[in-house]
This record gives sequence, structure tokens and C-alpha cells, in this order.
Amino acid sequence: MRIQVAMTTLIATALTAVTIGAQTSSQATIPVYLDQTKSIEERVEDALSRMTTQEKVALLHAQSKFNSPGVKRLGIPEVWTDDGPHGVRPEVLWDEWDQAGWTNDSCVAFPALTCLAASWNPEMAYLYGKSVGEEARYRNKQVLLGPGVNIYRTPLNGRNFEYMGEDPYLASIMVVPYIHGLQSNGVAACVKHYALNNQEVNRHTTNVNVDDRTLYELYLPAFKAAVQQGGAWTIMGAYNLYQDQHNCHNDVMLNKILRDEWGFDGAVVSDWGGTHDTREAITNGLDMEFGSWTDGLANGRSNAYDNYYLAQPYLDLIASGEVGTEELDQKARRVLRLIMRTSMNPNRPWGSMLSPEHYAAAREIGDQGIVLLKNDGHCLPISGEPKKILVVGENAVKMMTVGGGSSSLKVQREVSPLDGIRAAAPEGCQVAYARGYVGDVGGEYNGVVTGQDLSESRSAAELIAEAVAQAKDADYVIFIGGLNKASGQDCEDSDRESLDLPYGQDAVIEALAQANPRLVVVNVSGNAVAMPWVAQVPSVVQAWFLGSEAGNSIADVLFGKVNPSGKLPMTFPVKLTDVAAHSFGPETYPGVPRNDGSNIVDETYTEGLYIGYKWNDKQHITPLFPFGHGLSYTDFAYGKPTADKKELHEGETITFTVPVTNTGAVAGDEIVQLYITDEKSSLDRPYKELKGFKKVHLEPGETQQVAITIEPDALAFFDADQHAWVVEPGDFKAHVAASADDVKSTLSFKYK
Ligand code: BGC
Repeated sequence: MRIQVAMTTLIATALTAVTIGAQTSSQATIPVYLDQTKSIEERVEDALSRMTTQEKVALLHAQSKFNSPGVKRLGIPEVWTDDGPHGVRPEVLWDEWDQAGWTNDSCVAFPALTCLAASWNPEMAYLYGKSVGEEARYRNKQVLLGPGVNIYRTPLNGRNFEYMGEDPYLASIMVVPYIHGLQSNGVAACVKHYALNNQEVNRHTTNVNVDDRTLYELYLPAFKAAVQQGGAWTIMGAYNLYQDQHNCHNDVMLNKILRDEWGFDGAVVSDWGGTHDTREAITNGLDMEFGSWTDGLANGRSNAYDNYYLAQPYLDLIASGEVGTEELDQKARRVLRLIMRTSMNPNRPWGSMLSPEHYAAAREIGDQGIVLLKNDGHCLPISGEPKKILVVGENAVKMMTVGGGSSSLKVQREVSPLDGIRAAAPEGCQVAYARGYVGDVGGEYNGVVTGQDLSESRSAAELIAEAVAQAKDADYVIFIGGLNKASGQDCEDSDRESLDLPYGQDAVIEALAQANPRLVVVNVSGNAVAMPWVAQVPSVVQAWFLGSEAGNSIADVLFGKVNPSGKLPMTFPVKLTDVAAHSFGPETYPGVPRNDGSNIVDETYTEGLYIGYKWNDKQHITPLFPFGHGLSYTDFAYGKPTADKKELHEGETITFTVPVTNTGAVAGDEIVQLYITDEKSSLDRPYKELKGFKKVHLEPGETQQVAITIEPDALAFFDADQHAWVVEPGDFKAHVAASADDVKSTLSFKYK
């Protein structure tokens, strides 16, 4: 805040000089780097030309947990970063993870990115980015550490909730508007974790072996879209290794792919503690180093920022003549560009926090992302005049915005599912609550406390008995469980140990199913869970971590105020052995220690391109719920699709149009999906790949012609030998589908 004011004053003074200058012809007094009429590149070069070597090096590393220096002498501001990606993290002490104790840093928590992806709605992604960016801007942050687009390779990954699912096309489409919205505030996105950071177990030491084709087709597209279409101003290197080099200073990832191939002109930010080597950091593309554990480079010492790899050690190498200053200028240039795009852009808006619009955005994104997985006998929405609704389960009351690692927040408010249901229940309806099971009674992260007392002394059997007794005379029983943000659940730095629901929840659900046929299970998680009881439960809702408005969004869907329209951005497998990453032994997950004296764990993505629905297609596996699946309170009828041509040529597009009718009694949204099959290819290809989708709103009885257009790019595969994307002439199929397992019709076409 202090720095911002100083800078504004400085610019204002400089601009006054211009105005006066017009009359006094002293215009030359304004330095180019402060002159808003000049281009960013001119301003960057001018600033650079005024800086000493020490000042340049200072730009490249942290001076506290979350910020890095500017150039005091020139009035160039510091860079303040903050997590990310679901809200703006509260202030921590200068050199500690503990709370700074500010009282003005509570935020609105938006739904987790899995929920955003489940909305399949790019407008929601823009709204999300814009809203969280306004909060970041008001808090005077220049970089928000998000969004995350690592691919959902295993349902055990503790951080899947921060990402956008298993499909590179869906994640690419959704990440771009998030970045546009965020950066419209003059706040940089920091797209993370680039790349192959697809698990938390051994995240600092895993060396991922993946073939080029899989890398380019599956694990890179969302990052590429973020850079090329999103125009992301920063990107965060991942902790893990690729080709035996840490990704924060990885020649292939950063120099060759990100910069040479994609033309990234922004700054590469290390993950916190992801830098390990000065020379590699110098030559392999790292620009800003954060969170290193330096005391002469071991974990623990405070305020050792001069010891950072890109601090004094860099200056020493320059002083001894062992390295030159070419890379230094490049790095400083990129950081200056970031500063010009953010804090030194006087035209950026001022931002806002805790506004009704932000709460409304959080609720709408939640409403659009919740997925109705199953609804036998139209058990939902809650209807009639219920006299008693029983809510069971810890996740009905537990705050979920605290915990989970770096995305943990301090919120102004969080509506619990129980409170949301109570507020929405019709008058005269009793909403009773039974705990059902005990999960995680903790409620603290880095000093932020929920203040909830979830302690419970009764046994599991007693809790089940209470819930069952209460369930018998209820009109509806709503079980709200799933995972939480405790270590070993949906949480950074650890993976889950199994696909099963923890804390004995299966037994609670089975007992409730016996006691009352009108049972709804609401699963709150960022990951797929096993549902051995699914046949006994009429309605299942996937509710994600929904942030500040969680309870209201859940109630909106349960009571039918909102007709659910989300679809799964990942496959829900029946069992873990149905997942490709868990089908080949420890080499593919969690990796095998190298045993050569290093701490490296080798992991090979033997399954290649075949994850999620692509693996299921190949192995003929029926999942519990497929990718792209989600029900509605209405029904949609798909008519006969048409294509605007039979043959597609280079430089052309082809449009597939399908009439979709809302045949039910309530308005609803349907997500129409387009998958492509290459009938014959010189390389083995997944049976089908998502290449288009559209979410449409339909009133009862309404029909819309839903048109999805693709370009030849959508037919391409990455040929590693040629190191190029290739489209082969031949026969293709376009599948119009409601999910990966619900193809409505298929059209054939040729590429010539
Ligand atoms: C996480 C990043 C996060 C950073 C700063 C790291 O441990 O991997 O996602 O942005 O910490 O909190």
C-alpha cells in the first residue's frame, strides 16, 4: 500500500512536469520509463539502461515470503505476489508463513477450479478471473499465483481440486478467459505448475519420463493456450524434474518450448523452494526466485534472501567473470515488463473486495459447476411440502476454505451446506442434523482458524445409530460428506491413499439407504471417490469445494432454484485399478527411487495418451460416471446432426449442427460435446478426443440448433519424429455427445 502511494505520487509528479512542460518546453525532464505515452518496451529498455548490476540482480529474487524488490532509487515498485487461485490469501509475516494479523485481508472465496471446469462455461471463467482479480487488485497484488492447469492423471493427486480436469481441450478453453478476466485488472496470472506436476507425493524429487507426443498432446496444451491465447504475464515452474532437470530451471521446458516455440514474453516464477542451482537458473530461463530454503542452502534459516541462487551467488559469478550479463539483462527486462504491465500501468482499474457482485459471481459459478450424477425416480429436486429434512455428515458443517495448502483462505464468510439448506427450506419444514461420522476436527492453516469446535466423543456406531433413528421419519435425507482439506485428502503436499471415501462414510451411507429411500448423497471433493453404495442411493450430487457461497449453491440445486447443469471434467472410476496410472505398477505411480545416491524418484507415464476416457475407450472399461457426464431436472432430446460439408480442406472450417430440444417442464442448460475419431492414422490414436463443446440454455419445449465449428487443427496429432503437429488426409468421425459415454450420433467426413 505504502509503495503504491509513493509510486502514484511519483508518476503524478512526472505527469505534472509534462503538462507544465507543454508550456515551458521542459518536456525532456520526464524519464522515458515513466512516460505513459511511450510503449512498454521503450519504457523497459529505458529503465534497464539506468540500472546497476546489483539492482538488476535484486529484481530476480524474493525479499520476503511473497514479494520481490523493485528499484528504490528509480521509484520502480516492488512486486507483490499472492496465492491463488480461488481467492486472495491473507497477509503473512514478512519472513514467516504465519499470519501478519491484518484485519483487512478477509476475502471472498470462489469455487475451486474443478468446479469452474465442471461448468464448461467460458463466460464463468472470465467472470471468475475478473472477480478474483478485482480482489487481488484492491489488495495491491501484482501477481496472483494461479490458475492451475495440471492434468488430472490420478484421482489420488491431493491438488486436483486446484486444476481443471483430465482433458487438455477443456482445460485450454477454460483457462484463457480466466486469464483475460484476471489480467484486465492489471494483475498478472501465474499459470502453474509448469509442467508435469500431476501428483503431490514426491513432488520435489519426481523425475517424469514421458514421451514427446504425450507431453505435447496431453500435458502442455493448457499451458500453451494460457501463454498464446491467454497472454499470461507469468508462469510458475513446477517442483518436479523432467529429463533430470528441475522444472524451475529446465532447458527444454523453459528455453526451448516456452520461449522458443511459444514465444512467451513474460516472467518465469519459481515455485516456492523450487530453485536448486544458480548456473541452471541463469541459463535455463528462470526470472524470479521465491521461497528458496537458503542459509547456505539448507532448509530453515530466515531472512537469508541474499543467499538465494539468483542473489549473491549470481553476483559472485558475474564478478569473477564466469558468467556474463546477457541473461541478466533478459531476466531484468522480463521483470520490468511485468512491472510495467501491472503496478506501473496507471490506467489499470482500482479493484474491489467483498462486493455483492463477487459473492454473486461465486454463487453463480458454484450453481453452474455442481454436477447431478444420478437422480433415479426424480428424487431431486426436493419437492412437495416436506415436514422434515435430515442432513447428515461432517461436510454439512465443516468450513472448507481453510486448509488444503497454499490455496487456503481467510474468508469474510462461508455459508455451510447446513445453513444454506436451512435458509432455503420451505416454511414449517424442520431441518434436523446428525453428524454421521467424524472426519477431520482440525480447523487451522498457517494461523487462520475456523473457530469451529468439531470435537465429538461418540463412537462411530453411536453416530450411525443416531442418524438412522432420525432418518426414519424424514421426508428427505441429505448426506453431505466426501473429502476435506486435511493432509492426505484434497490437500497440497500429500496424495490420498485410496479412492475410497474416508472416515467410514460408506457404512453411514449404506445404513441411511436402508433407513430411508429418499436419500441424496452430496459429495464434496475435488476428486473422484469410489461409491460402492451407488445402486442403493437414488440421487448423487458432486458439489466440489464451493467457497464462500457453498451452502447457498448446494441449496439452490437441491431445492431446484437452479437446474443443475455442470458436467464432470474428469472420469469417476469404479476402482483405482481402472485408472491408467495405477495399472502398470509403481513405475507409473508413485515412482521408484533411483538408488544412485540421489533423492530422485523416477516415474514413467507408460500409459502415454491414454488417461481418463481415452483409457476407458481403449480398455473397454465402464466407469462409475464418465467424463462429461451430468444430469438435469429436465430432459434433452438430440435430433439428427448435419455437417456443412463432407470434405474439409486446409484453411477451412467445418461446422456440425445438432438440434437439441428441452423436452421437460423446466428450463435447463445442456452441454453438447463434440468428439473426433481419426479412422486410420499412421500413429496409434485415442479412439476419440474432445474437440468442441457448447453450453446452451433451453426453455421448456424450446429447440436450438447447436453449432460447433472446428478447424483442421482439431484433427492433428503431434508427430515426435517430425517434432510437428500433423493432420493426415483421410476419414474422420464427429461424435455429437452428452458425455464421453453417451454419444448421440456420429457423422463421417474427410480431410483432404
Ligand atoms: C505451491 C504453489 C504456491 C506457492 C506459494 C507452493 O508450495 O506449490 O502453488 O503458489 O507455494 O504459496
